[in-house]
Amino acid sequence: MANPYEMFPSAATTFGRYVDHIFFSLLGISSLVLLMLFIVMWVFVIRYRRGVEVPRKATSPRNVKVEATWTLIPLLIFIGLFVWAGERYLSLQAAPADALKVQVIAKQWMWKFQHPSGQREIDQLHIPLGQPIELIMTSQDVIHSFYVPAFRVKRDLVPGRYTTVWFTSTRTGRFRLLCAEYCGTSHSQMRGEVVVMQPADYEAWLDSREGKPTLAEEGARIFRAHGCSGCHFGGSTVRAPSLVGVFGSTVPLQSGEIVVADEAYIRDSILLPKKQVVAGYAPVMPSFAGQLSEEAILKLIAYIQSLASIEESQTP
Ligand code: CUA
Repeated sequence: MANPYEMFPSAATTFGRYVDHIFFSLLGISSLVLLMLFIVMWVFVIRYRRGVEVPRKATSPRNVKVEATWTLIPLLIFIGLFVWAGERYLSLQAAPADALKVQVIAKQWMWKFQHPSGQREIDQLHIPLGQPIELIMTSQDVIHSFYVPAFRVKRDLVPGRYTTVWFTSTRTGRFRLLCAEYCGTSHSQMRGEVVVMQPADYEAWLDSREGKPTLAEEGARIFRAHGCSGCHFGGSTVRAPSLVGVFGSTVPLQSGEIVVADEAYIRDSILLPKKQVVAGYAPVMPSFAGQLSEEAILKLIAYIQSLASIEESQTP
């Protein structure tokens, strides 16, 4: 188990090193400014203390050069820091295409993980070393926050929507996972760990935990059980758009808008079908809100995602 008293664990992801560089640069510059401020303050306190013969009248008028210098130099330094950190932050928004997508569902007070191959875990997440991991996260009740200090990763999980975060681990081990958003009585107990393993060990771990059926296969079962296949497949293109190849593609809407069919779009299409109607189709789809658990919706998304790479003729 990771040391629970470790205050500043060394970074264990590629992104973590960047965060450390930025953090220590900011800390260094701020300390320097603080130090200079205190030096000037103490010099003045001592020089102008009571009873000392020194000139006490204001003498020189304003010195524009000095004022411009002490304004512009810090301004440039801090704008530079902002651009540097902003660029890093933006790089977190889009995961690499080969990232392993793990689904995360938080609830009071536990973490649930679903691997693409069907394995599920609670309060523990096993991942392979060096592989980009993308977490597709949501909450079943209130806002929680996925926080792994050693990974320098913290992202909220919000009910009713998906948030994502990605990282690539740089060393094996067990790393503490915490909830960083007060979420009720047992918030402090909402802990877990991320276990980073050598890729071969991870494969062995997957094999040791019966993963079948995969998330996509379970999604296909839910797809049929809820009657989705009746409209979305089998040449019924008149009633509903085919879902083959839709994931990740751009979809023209009746409103004239064009959206990318990502996780959030598919979730909304299932729960709020009237919100974004595909151009050329009637808004006849009923809402499935209340009928599907968060796990089931994520499985459906995994299934629709798996359809992106197959031929129309092979669909059920
Ligand atoms: Cu979940 Cu705090």
